Amino acid sequence: MPSSAMPATGRPVDGHAPLAISATRLRKSYGDKLVLDGIDLHIPAGSVFALLGPNGAGKTTAVKILSTLIAADPGSGALHVGGHDLAVDPQAVRAAIGVTGQFSAVDNLITGEENMLLMADLHHLPRREGRRVAAELLERFDLVEAASKPASTYSGGMKRRLDIAMTLVGNPRIIFLDEPTTGLDPRSRHNMWAIIRGLVADGVTVLLTTQYLEEADELADRIAVLSDGRIAAEGSAEELKRIVPGGHIRLRFTDPAAYRHAALALGEFGRHDESLSLQAPCDGSQRELRSLLDQLDAVGIEADELTVHTPDLDDVFFALTGTGTGTGTGTGSGTGTGTGTRLPDQQTKETVR
Ligand SMILES: Nc1ncnc2c1ncn2[C@@H]1O[C@H](COP(=O)(O)OP(=O)(O)OP(=O)(O)O)[C@@H](O)[C@H]1O
Ligand SMILES: [Mg+2]
Repeated sequence: MPSSAMPATGRPVDGHAPLAISATRLRKSYGDKLVLDGIDLHIPAGSVFALLGPNGAGKTTAVKILSTLIAADPGSGALHVGGHDLAVDPQAVRAAIGVTGQFSAVDNLITGEENMLLMADLHHLPRREGRRVAAELLERFDLVEAASKPASTYSGGMKRRLDIAMTLVGNPRIIFLDEPTTGLDPRSRHNMWAIIRGLVADGVTVLLTTQYLEEADELADRIAVLSDGRIAAEGSAEELKRIVPGGHIRLRFTDPAAYRHAALALGEFGRHDESLSLQAPCDGSQRELRSLLDQLDAVGIEADELTVHTPDLDDVFFALTGTGTGTGTGTGSGTGTGTGTRLPDQQTKETVR
C-alpha cells in the first residue's frame, strides 16, 4: 500500500487498516551529527514492521522517539502513535504502547515474579489483578519454574522472555521491540518469533528493529532499510529482494579438463578459473535449471557441485547500506519497489569474470 494513501491520523483510508504508527519527516540530530534525516514511517495496525540498518543507523533513536523517551527535532512532521499526536498527548501514547528496549529492563536483584509485579504496580493494576496478569504471563513465557529465582540467575534467553513479558503487563496494542533476539541461540530465537507471531495473531502491532535479515524475512509484513539517516528502501521482503539483481547458478568442478569443456559448452557463463567454477544468472526456476543440465548432459559432463542462489535480504542489505560484501553476484542496477526506490551506485558484490 503506498504510504501516500494513508493519513497521519490513524484513520483508515479506502478500507485499509488504520495506522498504528505514522511518522512524517522524522528528524533527529545529536550535536552536528544528523541521525535521522526526515524519515517517513506508516505502519498499519495489526502488522509487523521491521526497521533494518547497520550499527549506528538510527534504529534505536527512531524507537526512542516514537515511544516518547526522547524528543524529535523541531522541523519534524506529524508523529502519531495509536492515533495520538506525540507532541500533544505523549501520556496517551505511553498508555497505548509497550517498549522492550535494546538493553534489558530486567532488575537482576529481584525475582522474575517480582519484576512482573513491579510492572503491574507501575501500570496501577489492583493487587489481585496484577498477580493474575503476572502469573498468566509467566506461564505464557515458560517462566513459572524460574519465577521465584533472582533474575541474575536467568540465561540470556530467559531474561529476554521476561523482558517482553514485562512489556505486556499493560496489555499494549502497539509494541516496540528493539533487537528482541540479539544474542539468543537459534532455538530461543525461534521461540521468540513464535511469541511475536502470537502477539500479532492477537491484533498487536509490532515495530521491531533487527540486525538479522532472516528475522525480518520471517516476521515482517513490511521492512524499511535505514542507511545514512534515510530510508534506502521499503517494502515487503519479496519486494526488497526484487530490487537486487537476480539469482544465479554456480557449477564447480574438481577436474580442470571438465571445467574447460563445460566452459566451452556453456559459452556465455561467467568463468572463475581459480575455483574452477562457472556461474550464470538464473531465476531459480526448474525450467532454467533443466535447460542448463541438459546442455551439460549433451557434452557428457557432470559438475561436482551445483548451487542455486536466489537473492535474499542479505543481498538487499549489502546493496543498500554499502556495509560489506555480500554473497551474491549481481552486477546490474535495480529499479525500485512500489516506493520508487533506486539502488545506490556503490554495490559491493563479488563479481566473477
Ligand atoms: N545520546 C546520544 N548522544 C549522542 N549521540 C548519540 C546518542 N544516542 C545515539 N547517538 C548516535 O546516533 C547514532 C544512531 O544511534 P542508534 O543507537 O539509534 O543506532 P542503532 O541503529 O540503534 O545502532 P545499533 O544497531 O548499534 O543498536 C549513532 O551514531 C550514535 O552514536
Ligand atoms: Mg540500537
